[in-house]
Amino acid sequence: MSIEALKGATQAVMRDLVIGITGIALLAGSTGLELGGMPEGGMTTLVDVAGLILIIFAGAGLARAAVLRAAAIDTPSAVTAVPDDLPEVVPEVEEPLQLPPPPPQLPAGRGGGLDLDIVPIEPAEGRFRRLFDLAPIGIALVDDRGGVLASNAALIRLTGEDGLEPGYAFTDLVVHDRRFALSDAFDAVFGGAERITAPIEVSFRQRPDRVASLLLRRADEDHLAAALIHVIDVTERKELEVQFAQSQKMQAVGQLAGGVAHDFNNLLTAMIGFCDLLLMRHPPGDASFADVMQIKQNANRAANLVRQLLAFSRQQTLQPRVLDITDVLAELTHLLRRLLGEAIVLDVHHGRDLAPVRVDQGQLEQVIINLAVNARDAMPSGGQLSIATRNFASEDTLAMARDWMMAGGRERVPTGDYVMVELRDTGSGIPRDILPKIFEPFFTTKAAGQGTGLGLATAYGIIRQTGGFLFVRSEPGRGTAFRILLPRHTEVETSGLEIDLAPEAAPPRKSEIAGSGGRVLFVEDEDPVRAFAARALRQRGFTVEEAESADVAAARLDELVEAGIDVLVTDVVMPGMDGPALAEKVRERVPGVSIVFISGYAEDTFRRKLGDDPNVRFLPKPFNLKQLVQTVRDAMDEAAG
Ligand SMILES: Nc1ncnc2c1ncn2[C@@H]1O[C@H](COP(=O)(O)OP(=O)(O)OP(=O)(O)O)[C@@H](O)[C@H]1O
Ligand SMILES: [Mg+2]
Repeated sequence: MSIEALKGATQAVMRDLVIGITGIALLAGSTGLELGGMPEGGMTTLVDVAGLILIIFAGAGLARAAVLRAAAIDTPSAVTAVPDDLPEVVPEVEEPLQLPPPPPQLPAGRGGGLDLDIVPIEPAEGRFRRLFDLAPIGIALVDDRGGVLASNAALIRLTGEDGLEPGYAFTDLVVHDRRFALSDAFDAVFGGAERITAPIEVSFRQRPDRVASLLLRRADEDHLAAALIHVIDVTERKELEVQFAQSQKMQAVGQLAGGVAHDFNNLLTAMIGFCDLLLMRHPPGDASFADVMQIKQNANRAANLVRQLLAFSRQQTLQPRVLDITDVLAELTHLLRRLLGEAIVLDVHHGRDLAPVRVDQGQLEQVIINLAVNARDAMPSGGQLSIATRNFASEDTLAMARDWMMAGGRERVPTGDYVMVELRDTGSGIPRDILPKIFEPFFTTKAAGQGTGLGLATAYGIIRQTGGFLFVRSEPGRGTAFRILLPRHTEVETSGLEIDLAPEAAPPRKSEIAGSGGRVLFVEDEDPVRAFAARALRQRGFTVEEAESADVAAARLDELVEAGIDVLVTDVVMPGMDGPALAEKVRERVPGVSIVFISGYAEDTFRRKLGDDPNVRFLPKPFNLKQLVQTVRDAMDEAAG
């Protein structure tokens, strides 16, 4: 046999090998029969191999291909009698693959044109099996009753089975509720369709946590109907899709909340403000006092709800300060004990040498309280809530990837140092299927009136706005743990902002209660807000000029400056000129003027434009009479001072 013939034959083997890998197998019975008429050596061996297991058949088939091709080269006449109908399950491989030179120890041939028949069988088959098993996707060949004829290692891994006996019903591998879809696909393929048009998504009985995409196509082998199944693990992609949809939804709700909150804040400012005015005429003891108080309290509750919505949409005004979490927790412990009640043991473990963080203390307390209240609700007949703090490095989150779910969808935690607060309860736990939903606003499993479903959404919003992360892990029946990661504060970032915002840092007041006087220009496009505020300030002795927009105020500026302006109180967002632009104009004319911005939007959005001027204050809506008067008074002192 010539070298050329050998080369040709081995290339043919390789080509068939590739076909075989995707097509998987040549089916029982075909090899021996069709080789009838072939010289004895080759045939005996092949028949011996045939009938063992399917993969051997594939090898046998490949060997037959080698035999046939070798025969075709050396003794063409012998071949004509043999039908060469190897099924080509995949499109033709265009280029013949290069086969490495045959191992030297193999005999070159025993004389006679067909010696080649046995020589390539072992290496080709071993190689085939290896490549088949190394394939990164699961592959199976099934017969028309759905019985597995062959499967590779990736499929075993994916399905979580110990092994797959030939004949095992493929549909039994799949979780129950996906079996119909799969049977339909089999019906389609064995009913004449060449392949199914869209992949089917399934989970496997032994691995319900994974999602796989199945492709099915007809792959008949000789006279036996068969289908080829490709199985691709799409779990990660699915998770990302869900997270993406989730974060889109969160964002949409957030925007909506932010918009609604702004309008509500104007309405509530007027409601609360007019209640305050009424209460001055109907002091305690008056017949109307209790009723007005009722209105005011309800308005305050509504204001709280709006604050939560804003917190969720990360649009609320944070007043961050550099804090030691140990102190925050220590102060909070007393309140938490009262909240949790007798039946729940509170165990607080403070980490050593905790790094400082820069957070809004009130908001962080709110987060911890929300989590603690949820824990309490999950332990109606008592249990334990453990709170622990410690320093935490961003790399440590890698170890959490498996068991912990990050609120809002997994993202990379930026490299750096964090402080972790963990709350772990021994409560009911959270079922797997609802875990991804708990951070959604208004998602609650509690009875109507017992939960609004805003607790976790708010917590998540606050933590994200602080630059931190929130994780959850739960074992149904055993308990739930939440982890808050807050970025460690580094000195460089300190700005003057938290100092002038911190209430205790406010300068001592020089002016006193009533009759303090001073001239205020009040600019606000919401009539009820302006009406209440102007009246309240006049009652406290200020002289108030009103304007319903910045443009109107600017047009009258000469006259107003003439009369004198000590404090400009202005809304931030108004039709036409905005508050900051007006403030600049006024300041050009009256350099010592104090400015108070009032807004239903977050301070952050425009604070940067203003710099850290102590002569600029921010009063978030809704505010009550006392807060308004106090802020204007402080501003007045600054202007005077
Ligand atoms: N520690 C926990 N253990 C068990 N389930 C929890 C826990 N924390 C939260 N959940 C579940 O998550 C849901 C959402 O919690 P979230 O705090 O957002 O709303 P809520 O507690 O129902 O209402 P709200 O906090 O607004 O009063 C809860 O209804 C509950 O099913
Ligand atoms: Mg809650």
